[in-house]
Amino acid sequence: MKSTIATLLLLLAACGLAAPPTWATPLAGAAAENGEGGEGGEEEGSVNAVIAHGICMVLAWILFSPSAIFIAHFLKFLGQKWFLLHKYMQIIATLLTVAGFIAILSGGEAEAEGAHGSLGIFLLVCTLIQALLGFARNLISGEPTDPNDPKDHGPRRWMFNYMHWLLGALTTVIAIVTIYLGLDLVEIGTPGFTALYVWLGVEAFVVLVSLVINHREGHSNNVLLAACGVFAAAALACTIVIAVKIGTVSNIDL
Ligand code: HEM
Ligand code: HEM
Repeated sequence: MKSTIATLLLLLAACGLAAPPTWATPLAGAAAENGEGGEGGEEEGSVNAVIAHGICMVLAWILFSPSAIFIAHFLKFLGQKWFLLHKYMQIIATLLTVAGFIAILSGGEAEAEGAHGSLGIFLLVCTLIQALLGFARNLISGEPTDPNDPKDHGPRRWMFNYMHWLLGALTTVIAIVTIYLGLDLVEIGTPGFTALYVWLGVEAFVVLVSLVINHREGHSNNVLLAACGVFAAAALACTIVIAVKIGTVSNIDL
């Protein structure tokens, strides 16, 4: 199990380093046809880098991270399983963010200017801190007073909860804005933006309904499981639409 996860994580990190040449876009093709032969390969590389970058980020911040947060908030009744799901999904989201960053650097497109780039770098730093916070939770929380009580996580657990929740909320909001700006940079077009809005609308609705259900006495856990299924399915569907649109984008102004 551990080696499967390690292989998966390595593959994810590698996809940031290697943007496959078969992902040539109409723009890169047009550049080559127009006789920009010498720079065509370079240009194609940068276009592929932007595509790899965009897809990594969308997977991380539309699919993996929000679903992992949903699980942490609503599915604690699953016992240890919620924690493992949250932890591994967030590790994948963090690696995808790093991979996306490496991809844009390798394409030579990073200029560290503009709102998208600045927010993106801030998000990368916050994400790394957030993941480290997750691993440092026991250190922050301190020794449990009663080691036999599974609910006793240490006297300073509230500090971890506040910090991790605040940074988690911040990263999620910044990620949505950064993705919006990124999609705007590549002029993704109406279907791509529509998928983003549909995702936001469906997820906000599912979260609101789940919050209400969660506060009701004697609520059914199966309803929350079903809500999680709808949340993840909507995220997957919108991720696929946006990723396909990024993959076929033809207006990257490099
Ligand atoms: C949360 C998600 C994202 C993060 C954290 C992020 C982060 C970054 C960073 C750090 C850079 C390089 C720094 C710089 O050049 O100033 C960059 C550049 C770029 N990103 Fe993203 N990005 C995200 C999503 C996207 C998406 C979805 C697209 C759409 C394909 C995209 C398109 C671009 C483009 C075209 C550039 C190069 C032009 C430029 O730097 O302004 N990004 N991004
Ligand atoms: C980018 C990475 C991460 C993000 C964005 C993130 C985000 C969040 C958020 C927003 C919550 C609060 C959920 C709620 O509303 O109740 C949460 C809970 C939690 N996360 Fe993470 N997380 C990340 C990584 C990790 C990692 C790597 C670990 C463990 C190694 C971890 C451990 C936890 C724990 C233990 C809780 C539950 C806190 C509690 O309510 O007792 N997180 N996470």
